[in-house]
Amino acid sequence: MIINGNLNLPGDKSISHRAVMLASLAKGKSEIRNLSSGKDVASTVSCLANCGIQFSNGPEGLFVNGGMLKDPNVSLDCGNSGTTMRLLIGLLSGQGINATLIGDESLSNRPMKRVINPLKKMGLNISSNNYKSPIDIRKSKLKGINYESPIASAQIKSCILFAGIGAIGSTTFTEPDISRNHSEIMLNNIGAKINSDNMKTVISFSNDFKPLNFTIPSDPSTASFFIAAAILIPDSALILNRILLNKTRTGFIEAIKRMGCKIEYLDNWIENGEKIGNIKVSHQKLMATTIAREDIPSIIDELPILAVMATQAKGITTVTGAKELRVKESDRISTICNNLARMGANIHELPDGFTIEGPTKLHGASIETCDDHRIAMTFKIASLITSGNVQLDNNSCAAISFPEFDSTLESLLQ
Ligand code: S3P
Repeated sequence: MIINGNLNLPGDKSISHRAVMLASLAKGKSEIRNLSSGKDVASTVSCLANCGIQFSNGPEGLFVNGGMLKDPNVSLDCGNSGTTMRLLIGLLSGQGINATLIGDESLSNRPMKRVINPLKKMGLNISSNNYKSPIDIRKSKLKGINYESPIASAQIKSCILFAGIGAIGSTTFTEPDISRNHSEIMLNNIGAKINSDNMKTVISFSNDFKPLNFTIPSDPSTASFFIAAAILIPDSALILNRILLNKTRTGFIEAIKRMGCKIEYLDNWIENGEKIGNIKVSHQKLMATTIAREDIPSIIDELPILAVMATQAKGITTVTGAKELRVKESDRISTICNNLARMGANIHELPDGFTIEGPTKLHGASIETCDDHRIAMTFKIASLITSGNVQLDNNSCAAISFPEFDSTLESLLQ
């Protein structure tokens, strides 16, 4: 069995959410091509449709008729998507919308204080279930604030910047390490008054946005599963086309380069402010690496699959400064450690990460996904290098980010 092929993956999930949200503010018709096909982005679309935005499928992409948000007459169901909930709270409060936002069981347990507190400082009338969803927002006059976030998080940053669009004066957001910057790039593209310098971004009251017309680059987080498979399985090689190479998202690629992988950059260019490229990866023997606090935001969603790669690398891989992993769709530090330990990995859980000593031959086990899409995809890839049967308790949750995961993997296996 080898992995071989040429992949054109659906659009990046983070950029897809932002494109749909900002197209909703722009007066006129936006066209967004290669939108993420996952359920999370569908949640964003359905929430905004309930706020009066018209969406229609064109021959090449999604048309969005924006510029007329109104109060929804149902609760906005964000499903499993933290990005939908946190970014929409900011976007809708900046536009004076009254709404209640709800989510599934996992999302209802995720922390919202991180956005509620700064929004309250901006003057928002917001209530919650003890800082968790349901979240209720009421039309309020917002004022700009100077907010120093204790956490490097693009979700918190985007929420506050989106609220800042409608606030009187300017809003400044500072974070301890740089997180993904797609909101800043897209806000700049559509004509918002925004200035960004790595960890500090300032936005002032803005309206009259230009509609979007663009093709979203392929999702590097989804790609990481197939890249890992190609690197782990002898004689494999894989080309990934139009993949997002924004440096706030390339922590996984940089980490596997340190582990000894050679990435061939076939081509790269800038489109709508985002770096994109075609790359080639192939099988490689791995050595251990160290991932520290400042690396975490650029690799946060790829840490589960990196852990599987680390079980096959010579030496001790250390991940620290990643306590944010505990508040994702599952507590990913414990889901990674428990499941890899069941498969025989030499893994040690830390409060803010883990250490893994490799290489170890993994064996079959039953895997508890905790209904977390990235954990399910991680262990499907792990099963390819495992002797014995790997049984997942949920085979369908990959659909949150990539419904075509199984068929894509099958099409690459030879
Ligand atoms: C995201 C930011 C990250 C990431 C999530 C998507 C985004 O979360 O883990 O999958 O689109 O802004 P945090 O910013 O909360 O770390």
